[in-house]
Amino acid sequence: MRIPFIAGNWKMNMTHIQAVSFMQDLGYKFKNKNDCEIAVCPPATALKSVKTIIDGDGMDIKLGAQNMYFEFSGAFTGEISPEMLKALDVEYVIIGHSERRQYFYETNEIVNKKINAAFKIGLKPIMCIGESLDIREKGNAEEFVINQLTECLSEVDDEDIRCLTIAYEPIWAIGTGRNATPEDANNMCNAIRSRIKELYGKKNSEELRILYGGSVKPSNISELMNMSDIDGALVGGASLKVDDFLAIINY
Ligand code: 13P
Repeated sequence: MRIPFIAGNWKMNMTHIQAVSFMQDLGYKFKNKNDCEIAVCPPATALKSVKTIIDGDGMDIKLGAQNMYFEFSGAFTGEISPEMLKALDVEYVIIGHSERRQYFYETNEIVNKKINAAFKIGLKPIMCIGESLDIREKGNAEEFVINQLTECLSEVDDEDIRCLTIAYEPIWAIGTGRNATPEDANNMCNAIRSRIKELYGKKNSEELRILYGGSVKPSNISELMNMSDIDGALVGGASLKVDDFLAIINY
């Protein structure tokens, strides 16, 4: 019922020239498969070039951005507005990644403003939530993540929720090579879905896609995708190598 979704988060990697070369290589090897939705999220400076290759090669790959500001225009030097992404034909936007929370002090309140701004202009947010190692070891992971979820979804209505994707990314699993066990990841995704059911009803909770992110690689994607509440993956490091990304897509 839920179409699997695999998105590559390139983070701050690749110039637009390197991105073009990556996409050409991917396009050469990629077979369109309708049973899984695929997206790439390059840095803002490469969005246009990547989109040109996707369109030119007729690749069934969606374009996502990694961040945006919540205001629509004005004196916010260095920021990128929702409208600017929309004008580039961006479909998805990652919001609230733990690296943005950690290094750029994004709070749940800021994430919430960005989520609502994305909905307002018709961008589909991939909203990231997840706990630190310290919180997990104290046994408070679920409470923490559910609180993040609730605060970040303030004022999001039933209509909006249908365009939301959630990525559960435990911080201790990001870039460390240490992924969560499929069971632990699934338990958290299940808790997230239960909270969505309380807030938005059964149908919306059953339709919402929840991705897992954190050291996803060709060797662990299948077992993650076999879990009942994991609908896909947000892939960092392994999305930067064409062959690894393809292996993940073809899990
Ligand atoms: P890694 O796959 O490199 O652990 O990164 C995960 C991530 O942060 C995706 O957003």
